[in-house]
Amino acid sequence: MIKKYLQYLLNAKDEHSLHSPFVYELYLKIIKPTKKSKHIDYQSIESLRKLLKSNQTEITITDFGAGSKIYKGNQRTIAQIAKNAEKSPKFGKLLYRLIAHFQSKTIIDLGTSLGITTIYQSKANPQAKVYSFEGCPATAAIAQNNFNQLSCENIELIVGNIDETLPKTLAKIEKIDFAFFDANHRYEPTVRYFEQCLAKAHEDSVFVFDDIHWSEEMEQAWDYIKTHDKALITIDLFFVGLVFFRKKQPKQSFVLKF
Ligand SMILES: C[S@@+](CC[C@H](N)C(=O)[O-])C[C@H]1O[C@@H](n2cnc3c(N)ncnc32)[C@H](O)[C@@H]1O
Repeated sequence: MIKKYLQYLLNAKDEHSLHSPFVYELYLKIIKPTKKSKHIDYQSIESLRKLLKSNQTEITITDFGAGSKIYKGNQRTIAQIAKNAEKSPKFGKLLYRLIAHFQSKTIIDLGTSLGITTIYQSKANPQAKVYSFEGCPATAAIAQNNFNQLSCENIELIVGNIDETLPKTLAKIEKIDFAFFDANHRYEPTVRYFEQCLAKAHEDSVFVFDDIHWSEEMEQAWDYIKTHDKALITIDLFFVGLVFFRKKQPKQSFVLKF
């Protein structure tokens, strides 16, 4: 990943290269990291993260995904999960800004883990409904406790293998405004979940894919998504990839500094 990251740093552009008014505005106002925000929502989420990072309770993991690059076996402390599986504050805040900007109402969050990034999505629009999916019952129980602690009443936590739970849930949902894909980091499931969610996407939907350069399989999955005829604007920020479906402009892919 280091080689790929260096390549990204060489290729990534900023607002001066952007001719698309939509992407220019979005990049300057929403994507580009702003001054350190002391937003009250951010403070409560980061205090919770701090507590989880010092929690030495051990749990047994059930893994339906590509596994960890760091740990072997199925025993983990909550501190280890909080340090290695959760997206950092920078990315939680990016999702928060995107959801608040687009006023996304129906949100699909694949891969809850301890729920830190789910809470960012929940707080970004309290009027939204967040469907969050986790396969590991022990991890999901901690996430649910975290949602209760921060009064996130708009989250429905769905426990089970996403291969089964996603199609069932999507059958009950009319449309998806925002989706965050951070569960099974393999080619086939990533593409399958994308296609399933795509069927409920609309002109203003936003999809965010995590770890698009994490492995060869994820690289291939990102290539599939980027070249899909319905994915009209894609933005590679290296650790995440954004997808927009606006028909108002020609298909374009961007690699932007983040
Ligand atoms: C990288 S973690 C998610 C981190 C979380 N989005 C965050 O930023 O806080 C991935 C999670 O997806 C779950 N997962 C992976 N594959 C799954 C599947 N097929 N079904 C359900 N959950 C799955 C794992 O159990 C793990 O908790």
